Amino acid sequence: MRGDAVSSTKKDGRVLISPSLMCADQMNFGAEVDELVGLGIDWLHLDIMDGHYVPNLTFGTDQCKALGERSGVPLDIHLMVDDPDRWAPVFAGFGNAPYVTIHPETTWHPARTLAALRDAGAHPGLAVDPAFSPDRFSNLLGLVDLVLVMAVNPGYAGQKLLPWTLDSVRRARELRDAGGHDFLIEVDGNVSWTKIPRMLEAGADVLVAGTSSLFDPTLSRVEAAARLNGLIGPRIRRG
Ligand code: DX5
Ligand code: ZN
Repeated sequence: MRGDAVSSTKKDGRVLISPSLMCADQMNFGAEVDELVGLGIDWLHLDIMDGHYVPNLTFGTDQCKALGERSGVPLDIHLMVDDPDRWAPVFAGFGNAPYVTIHPETTWHPARTLAALRDAGAHPGLAVDPAFSPDRFSNLLGLVDLVLVMAVNPGYAGQKLLPWTLDSVRRARELRDAGGHDFLIEVDGNVSWTKIPRMLEAGADVLVAGTSSLFDPTLSRVEAAARLNGLIGPRIRRG
């Protein structure tokens, strides 16, 4: 059951969990995915980094295709790449109707890129870098099914929340309600035990669970899932 203080404009009011696989055991993806799916996760967050837009490299296309087939849950593909017009159509084909999120500043014509994602059968998403307010992208909000608010600078797991980004979550909710949009609001980065209540209160519908929660090194996945369950309500079955 969700906390009384948290109101949601989403259909059934429940919070979705999207574990960030770059935070999982890198030598054990198959077993990690099987366990996470068994724990009732909603999506699988795949951070795609090209070493240009962000100074890091992560998953390849073959890996993402295999992860989509193995997991059977919607892929939540976060493109942190220099050339999303080249890569978005490729990732749109992985899994079943994935969410594919671009950083609008990585392409000259983001409205065209988002429309191409929709045409390719994906759920288009836009990411709000900590440097910007969601207002910067207000013209694009009618084109997306997801607004991913970065709570940290893109590129690495294990960073600390940039406090002003919670205001961006609130602002995204205000813009959604004022514009009659119905996108989901996702928070990505340092989603931690202590910050989750504040993220939900600000308006998060989807939480990217990483090193500060589901992959907390001091807990098993089952223990971490139970703790997460206690914070968001019965979304994750105890293993
Ligand atoms: C960072 C990625 C996040 C990251 C989350 O660029 O977008 O998804 O993996 O990791 P934590 O939860 O440790 O911040
Ligand atoms: Zn991410």
